[in-house]
Amino acid sequence: MNPSEKSPFLFVYRLIIFLILILLVFYGIYSLDNRTKLEISVKTVEKKEDRIVSPFTHTLGFIRWNSAFVNRIPLMERYRPFFYELHYSIPNYATKLNLTVDGLVSISFPYKMVSETMTIILKERPEINGILFFHFDAWINPFKFHDMNFENIWFLDGPLPPFRCVTTTAGWDWWAWTNGLHNIAKKATEMVAKNYSNRYVTDSNVFCGGWSDIYYIPRRFFKAFIELADIFHRADSFHEVATPTIMNIIDLTYRLTPHHSVITRLGDCWGSCCASGAQPVDIKYKRCGHRMDLNNQEVTKTFLELLNSQLVFMNKTILNKPT
Ligand SMILES: *[C@@H]1O[C@H](CO)[C@@H](O)[C@H](O)[C@H]1NC(C)=O
Ligand SMILES: *[C@@H]1O[C@H](CO)[C@@H](O)[C@H](O)[C@H]1NC(C)=O
Ligand SMILES: *[C@@H]1O[C@H](CO)[C@@H](O)[C@H](O)[C@H]1NC(C)=O
Repeated sequence: MNPSEKSPFLFVYRLIIFLILILLVFYGIYSLDNRTKLEISVKTVEKKEDRIVSPFTHTLGFIRWNSAFVNRIPLMERYRPFFYELHYSIPNYATKLNLTVDGLVSISFPYKMVSETMTIILKERPEINGILFFHFDAWINPFKFHDMNFENIWFLDGPLPPFRCVTTTAGWDWWAWTNGLHNIAKKATEMVAKNYSNRYVTDSNVFCGGWSDIYYIPRRFFKAFIELADIFHRADSFHEVATPTIMNIIDLTYRLTPHHSVITRLGDCWGSCCASGAQPVDIKYKRCGHRMDLNNQEVTKTFLELLNSQLVFMNKTILNKPT
């Protein structure tokens, strides 16, 4: 081999190594710079917490009645200062859905009204970052949600029905399964797979059940929820099966690994789908619950006192906290 031919190659080789080194140095500087930026933004957020604001400042509170107890509206109005906006979903209360009302009669599809409200928010309300759905006879203790992840879905994790995703109804005694509602959810999931094969991760053998009287969905999943709710609603899927199954499809699609989840399970809410008898002490100390008996004056009084006692602190700047 001629050594005079070899040297240009050696030169190019060295040049490439040199360029790679330069790139590595720049990349190092760039990522260090980004890390500093990240630290700065975290600090700003911490500082803002001096002023007491409701955790739901950018949340729409979606309150559902299955029976038109409009006499409970004044009580629900007490939530208003804690939320960006309230939506009342009451049978025959309105002829047309808009951001703040709907008149859904059926008890089976409140999730469809939630999804239609999301469509309006995506079009018209960039300030709203999420929807908290709850029944009027559930209770929400606003300040106790200050440490939640508002970029995650929240779904109840309670005794009846438990939030579980399964491939068989064996060992799960529940009226919805004896009525074949899992087959409807499986059919809907098949339709999702067919229509959105590249968009959603699905397993049409899997269906879920779960207590669906309180849940939160962040804006980043609105589009997915709208598309999925549309298919489940067309299939006539019942909300305590449809809602958790939809949440699970979103989780399968967006989670990083099977060991991660975009769903935060709310395991400390009092009660279940069908519980009653919450005591004033439950309403006072639990983050949330269902149901509260609003005919019980002690219960109603405790609930009002709770909201009022938090309202006193709203917009106040709290000084002299140790850092
Ligand atoms: C929604 O419709 C109701 C009448 O059903 C009306 O009173 C209300 O102002 C409307 N809200 C919005 C945000 O358009
Ligand atoms: C299927 O997906 C498209 C968008 O990709 C949508 O417009 C259409 O309504 C969907 N069909 C069903 C049955 O949901
Ligand atoms: C808190 O301040 C905002 C404006 O920053 C105001 O709109 C809201 O009414 C205040 N809330 C209370 C409870 O004082």
